[in-house]
Amino acid sequence: MTFSGVGDSEQYSIAAPLPSAMVESFRAFGYDIGTAIADLIDNSVTAGAKNIWLSFSWDGANSHVSIRDDGYGMTKSQLISAMRLGSQSPLEQRESHDLGRFGLGLKTASFSQCRRLTVASRSKNHEVAISRWDLDYLNQVNEWRLLSSPAEGSEQKFNDLTNMFQGTIVLWECLDRFVGNAKNDDQKAQNDFLETVEVVENHLAMVFHRFLEKRDRLKLWINNRIIKPWNPFLLDAQATQILPSEPLTFNGETVKVQPYVLPHHSKIDKESYDRAAGVNGWNAQQGFYVYRNERLLVAGDWLSLGYQKDEHCKLARIQVDLPNSMDSDWSIDIKKSRARPPIVLKADLRRIAKLTRHRATEIYRHRGKVLAREDNEDHVFIWDKKIMRGKVFYSINKEHSLVQEILNIPNNYQPLIRALLRLLEETVPVQQIWVDNPAEPEKQAQPFDEIPSEQVMEIMIEIYRALRKTNLTQEQARDRILTIEPFQNFEALTKTLSDQLISGDVK
Ligand SMILES: Nc1ncnc2c1ncn2[C@@H]1O[C@H](COP(=O)(O)OP(=O)(O)OP(=O)(O)O)[C@@H](O)[C@H]1O
Ligand SMILES: [Mg+2]
Repeated sequence: MTFSGVGDSEQYSIAAPLPSAMVESFRAFGYDIGTAIADLIDNSVTAGAKNIWLSFSWDGANSHVSIRDDGYGMTKSQLISAMRLGSQSPLEQRESHDLGRFGLGLKTASFSQCRRLTVASRSKNHEVAISRWDLDYLNQVNEWRLLSSPAEGSEQKFNDLTNMFQGTIVLWECLDRFVGNAKNDDQKAQNDFLETVEVVENHLAMVFHRFLEKRDRLKLWINNRIIKPWNPFLLDAQATQILPSEPLTFNGETVKVQPYVLPHHSKIDKESYDRAAGVNGWNAQQGFYVYRNERLLVAGDWLSLGYQKDEHCKLARIQVDLPNSMDSDWSIDIKKSRARPPIVLKADLRRIAKLTRHRATEIYRHRGKVLAREDNEDHVFIWDKKIMRGKVFYSINKEHSLVQEILNIPNNYQPLIRALLRLLEETVPVQQIWVDNPAEPEKQAQPFDEIPSEQVMEIMIEIYRALRKTNLTQEQARDRILTIEPFQNFEALTKTLSDQLISGDVK
């Protein structure tokens, strides 16, 4: 065999990696427990599993984690090949639904959390096959010796497989990274273990939400509890804005980009708002959500496009869909937790990010009213924003019916009323609002927040009276009130307005 740059008679030595050194380095890929488990779920999903059962079992230093699936499983020889570090080259073309790439995940994810990995698998019409890596043993013998049975005393942990005609169980024991030598009755260690279960649950709910939402959906259990999907885009909420989606083509492949602006907190109930915050909170979860074959890789990141995670952009979330044929273009990493856009797509992504951030900022600052102004000229606001000599100024809208009514009263108090309005305009505490609002916007009261409806009604009645004097019919007056902010939020109350209600006052 000839090879460019290597002479036919050139001498060589075999310099295979030392198993003990190699495996310890493989432990340092930087997985956390969530990304590690997700890497195993990837394998189960690729194997066509419809059900995946995760079990976190506390028993001090003997605690274990198992992941069982009902996918198509592996024969003995397939299992041995699967346990090999680098079981498949990343350069090989994969089927379009395959969530793998490097031939490493099963091993690197497992070794990042435990020192003993046992896999039992059964493919249709085959016996159960078992393989085990034991890092302590491997360190000692310093050879890639893959054991062919469960560790002594662990045999029964694979019993479930005997009742299944196909499937796989991955078992992690010797959990040195998150249990260590903890005693069975170590309450704190046990609580930490339980907290870990919750962290994993939240991570999986997010990473696999599209699989968990589908009609023919995947079912994922953790300690016998089914995991509910967490969708970052609040698609059920009417107030979520779906901006136009864009297909971006690169090397003949298409990346789909779908920007969303999530609702202002005043437009959804508190529970939905809190849940939509996600595992890392509203601010951290803004940005791009990059999916590869519908599996989430990156959950809220501006992808080094030059944008910061700013509080006022926190409602911006942009879905990006990649096929697995673009893995190297997007620099997908082994942990499946990073994606970097190719340079040629950066300008388009930056443009989409800018637009979405702009829209999100408007919703954040103005509770959606600015968009309403743009879209619906009929809306009436009591405050107008003006720019004079380059400076922003807020003035009271003198066309507002209530203001008109007061200004039209022929009396000696007119100079006083005008002086008061002017004083209000000149002293809007803009700076104070600016300081208070970004810190804790949720704590800012909304117009008529928690105010008894009688008090809202008192104001509405005054406006209704004013409108009826302008020759509007009762119905027109009610309709007009609904265009005056913030009465669009009090539709039911508005409907009760009538001349009868204000009996006799309107001529
Ligand atoms: N639960 C499973 N059911 C069936 N086959 C599996 C399962 N887990 C792993 N395999 C097989 O083992 C192989 C190796 O898995 P591993 O996670 O190490 O690499 P990969 O999935 O090919 O690539 P990546 O490193 O990107 O995850 C897989 O390609 C698959 O053939
Ligand atoms: Mg894998």
